[in-house]
Amino acid sequence: DWTMAAYRAEAIEKIRAQVGKGKVICGLSGGVDSSVAAVLIHEAIGEQLTCVYVDHGLMRANESEEVVSLFREHYNIPLVHVDASDLFLGKLDGVSDPETKRKIIGGLFIDVFEAEAKKIGGADFLAQGTLYPDVIESVSALGGPSVTIKSHHNVGGLPERMNMKLVEPLRELFKDEVRALGRELGLPEAFVGRHPFPGPGLAIRIPGVITREKADTLRKADLIYIDEIKKAGLYDEIWQAFSVLLPVNTVGVMGDVRTYEAVLALRAVTSTDGMTADYYPFEHAFLGRVATRIINEVQGVNRVVYDVTSKPPGTIEWE
Ligand code: XMP
Repeated sequence: DWTMAAYRAEAIEKIRAQVGKGKVICGLSGGVDSSVAAVLIHEAIGEQLTCVYVDHGLMRANESEEVVSLFREHYNIPLVHVDASDLFLGKLDGVSDPETKRKIIGGLFIDVFEAEAKKIGGADFLAQGTLYPDVIESVSALGGPSVTIKSHHNVGGLPERMNMKLVEPLRELFKDEVRALGRELGLPEAFVGRHPFPGPGLAIRIPGVITREKADTLRKADLIYIDEIKKAGLYDEIWQAFSVLLPVNTVGVMGDVRTYEAVLALRAVTSTDGMTADYYPFEHAFLGRVATRIINEVQGVNRVVYDVTSKPPGTIEWE
């Protein structure tokens, strides 16, 4: 792709001009954006870059293994893997307000990056995979007068106490352009085509208080849902599909035993940039199959519902 080849070359020059001989830390989230940013920056400045993957305990199933192997084995880019799940889940303990969750997670990411920067003798820059829609939506959502709908953890500058400056090489791009750039950089197709995943992770897919058990339940259910979507050949038609574990128990019956367990909501939308979205019109038979599998295979869930809200008026994530 000519456009992306040109963009790549230009972006590399810009990164070199901004960073000079400085050291850069890049936070990886397992998503496409931060991975593309990291590979691009590595191409620009090589060993001046240190990638940090922070596992906050709220990642999708297999996420950590996949990211670590992509960077260490496929690209041979050094990667620091921080298991910070105790820290994050500890600070989130008892918190149910969506914005409070987002702020806690954003703050902890900065703390972890700072600690990692110290270990390598200080870093001058923090790199992020911020995209154009992230920038717009955090400034003024849907054309409204600068109303913050959600504080995206990865936008909005850094706390003053932090000495690092931001490097955001994807700030002018939309998701489809980032994917094209990822292909241009040789990222594996399975990685480039992955559905977006928000920085705060499963925290914003567990309305109410978060526990490790709830995160485990959600991961198991979501794996089944995504597996069925892939088997049906629908994965690439859908912008994003995920499950939400509701803080609501309902009565059910399994065999001849009464159950009283959680409700799981399934979400799937089509979109081109995440700024507007339509719910995906699954066939009922498909939804029935997913519901049966989840209720049979995932302990703690006895009812499954499908979200038929588009954006607007809904947002894609529930929090
Ligand atoms: P909403 O829920 O605002 O989401 O309609 C639009 C798109 O953005 C993703 N999203 C985030 N991505 N950090 C991110 O990196 C965040 O804090 C965040 N919040 C939402 C969401 O998954 C969807 O693709």
